[in-house]
Amino acid sequence: MRRPAAAAALVAAALTGTALLTGCGASSDTGNARAELSVHSAYMPQPVSASMAAGFLTIENKGGAKDELTSVTSAEAGDVTVHQTAGGVMTEAGPLTVPAHGRLVFKSGGNHLMFDQLKRAPRQGQTVPVELHFAESGTVKIEMPVKSATYNPATGH
Ligand code: CU
Repeated sequence: MRRPAAAAALVAAALTGTALLTGCGASSDTGNARAELSVHSAYMPQPVSASMAAGFLTIENKGGAKDELTSVTSAEAGDVTVHQTAGGVMTEAGPLTVPAHGRLVFKSGGNHLMFDQLKRAPRQGQTVPVELHFAESGTVKIEMPVKSATYNPATGH
């Protein structure tokens, strides 16, 4: 009577492993879980200054392992830094974690990207190339659309 039970457990384990590999219903952090990143809602408000701009985005992780955003670069800016805001004070952030089955959000009043030494003033309707560098997932390239200076992502205008 014990052997069939053990065999059933093995089959169940094999099925779980398959689910993790295909990314369907992966709810466990065991096995060879990986981060599965995607970027949403990226935008840059058209900057007032010709040399400095902010950027916002959401990094979603559907995978079962965390990742870390280690740095950000752009061909259009001499320098890009990651800032966090706490108590109204803006400081440069170290690597930020994208939790497993979670998200890292950059939004007005919170985390944001800071573009310095812009090569030209971004104008509404243009896009700015941005490379996001992750500890595990490597480099993710996005085109960040430039929106109006007062763009509100909640209302879409
Ligand atoms: Cu800042």
